[in-house]
Amino acid sequence: MCGLKSIRSASGVFSVSTMTPVSDPSSFSSLSKCATKHLNLIYHVDFDRHVLKGKVALTVEVLEDKFSSLTLDSKDLKIFKVSANGQAAQFALGTKHKFKGSPLEITLPFELSRGQHVIVEIEYETSPSATALQWLTPKQTAGKKHPYLFSQCQATHCRTMVPCQDTPSVKHTYYAQVSVPRELVALMSALRDGQEPDPSDSSRVIYRFRQPVPMPSYLIAIVVGALESREIGPRSRVWSEKEYVDEAAFEFSETETMLKTAESLAGPYVWGQYDLLVLPPSFPYGGMENPCLTFVTPTVLAGDRSLAGVIAHEISHSWTGNLVTNRTWEHFWLNEGHTVYIERMIARSMESEQLRQFKGIGGWKELQESVKQFGANNVLTNLVPNLHEVDTDEAFSSVPYEKGFALLYHLEELMGGPEVFMGFVKSYIQLFAYGSATTEEWKNYLFTYFKDKVEILNKVDWNGWMHTPGMPPVKPQYDTTMADACTALCQRWVKAKEEDLTCFTEADLKKLNSPQLIEFMALLLQEEPLPLLHVKKMQEVYQLNGVKNTEVRFRWLRICVRAHWEEAVPLALKMATEQGRMKFTRPLFKEVYNFSKYSEEAVKTFKEHRGALHPVTAMLVAKDLKIDG
Ligand code: BES
Ligand code: ZN
Repeated sequence: MCGLKSIRSASGVFSVSTMTPVSDPSSFSSLSKCATKHLNLIYHVDFDRHVLKGKVALTVEVLEDKFSSLTLDSKDLKIFKVSANGQAAQFALGTKHKFKGSPLEITLPFELSRGQHVIVEIEYETSPSATALQWLTPKQTAGKKHPYLFSQCQATHCRTMVPCQDTPSVKHTYYAQVSVPRELVALMSALRDGQEPDPSDSSRVIYRFRQPVPMPSYLIAIVVGALESREIGPRSRVWSEKEYVDEAAFEFSETETMLKTAESLAGPYVWGQYDLLVLPPSFPYGGMENPCLTFVTPTVLAGDRSLAGVIAHEISHSWTGNLVTNRTWEHFWLNEGHTVYIERMIARSMESEQLRQFKGIGGWKELQESVKQFGANNVLTNLVPNLHEVDTDEAFSSVPYEKGFALLYHLEELMGGPEVFMGFVKSYIQLFAYGSATTEEWKNYLFTYFKDKVEILNKVDWNGWMHTPGMPPVKPQYDTTMADACTALCQRWVKAKEEDLTCFTEADLKKLNSPQLIEFMALLLQEEPLPLLHVKKMQEVYQLNGVKNTEVRFRWLRICVRAHWEEAVPLALKMATEQGRMKFTRPLFKEVYNFSKYSEEAVKTFKEHRGALHPVTAMLVAKDLKIDG
């Protein structure tokens, strides 16, 4: 094991190129000839024009002799000037690719050899339609007074914010200075490094940031708004508009306990600070693991700490994803599968093994849903998909999360249980820390670590798990203690005849905690649609229209629309537009669209709200609703 590590570090991250060719189907940038080591970023945030005026200096290490040109990723950027070590350099933007953007070809006025460094400086401006950014008007914020800006770079949107090697195979540190209107606060995925009045404009302030740990471009993040913060732990603050800040401080009060639990499982937390930012409702994901500052949707503010799973998940990415990174997006399951595995180990430590088992069951069901959505023969349901000419946003699903988790759980059972297998995961993290990994490297290390159990590992159907579409070759067995109550109640409803409906009472739900209520509804969604009378009865006895918890409400409204309860249509469209978490918004729009009487209504509502939606959400919902252009 030590041998392996020293081989790797002796020749750097790219040494493994003999095993795995250095190429990334999602990037145009040069990968084998140079590697960015540091990025120095200067931004002027312009809320009037919805652009970032930027100047970036990339410190690039040269990996070949006679080096005199390089290609960077860019998308919708206006490039004004490029220089290399202070000398003007020629540049040209290549033809624009639909989702990969335009390669930025830079020719240096000199030649360099392997091992040298060059500072490439680029003056540029982002587009108002940059897909990494959402610019919110004051009306779209909680406070209604100030505009707001946030970024979401994963997977391939960083290139709309910064010209760079936009590939997770390259890691660098960064430093940034951001000028914003004085009444606003800027934060980035980095340590805060002070602020000062903008010397060129007295109405503005400059915030400084430093990220001393090398990280991939997709983890660069910025937010600007009327933000406040509260301390929630020795290394944690929660940030949001002041309207959410107290609720958020309560909801996330377990953060330090989770960090400590994660450290005991995976090793030291290397990023210094772990802050949380609660975004406005249009944030397209549940959470995003931006280093030093996890971004979370406000829809996790359920008031009962029941959605702590999201934070456990994002904390876990501090090891799997941020410290050890998938080499390309084809190996995304290494990020998400391991993160779900650690997230559920945190649940095991902080709650119980039964809760972990319950989550495993729920995850398997999510996987079934994704496989059904894509179709069981769709190659995007492979654990390791081919992403050549595939938009990563369109490939996104539960597959890497839950097929990945199922594989790890299956291996856990084969190798000797949770403690034994977590030992492997921890060791894998140590070995690949500060670097990136492919599936093949992960698997080689698995065989090395469990060298005494190679016979068992050889019996695993690796091709079935990794390179075959559909459900996995083996279904793991989970303890059903917590799930039984959900299955039983679901089956009572499914089997009930009209005359049986009187037997349901408010008390049915009293036996379920909120994760179980969510699971009960998820089970109903896997069945044939319930008759309308059943659903109306369900509302009468359980009062689900009044439930605020978004995970519950989302599933409840889908159940109603599926039963063709017309009164639920406006409620579903309201939820689809009031918040923009894609996990909710996309299925809600689709559900209404599939109710043929209301297809047009879904399309109309989407078109009315399109301008206010996040650019990626808008793109994907348009595809879901078969709207082109
Ligand atoms: N890194 C992901 C979000 C992501 C993935 C954004 C791919 C863009 C492209 C994040 O860690 C995540 O998985 N979020 C989940 C949370 C859940 C699994 C607890 C989400 O958003 O639902
Ligand atoms: Zn994740």
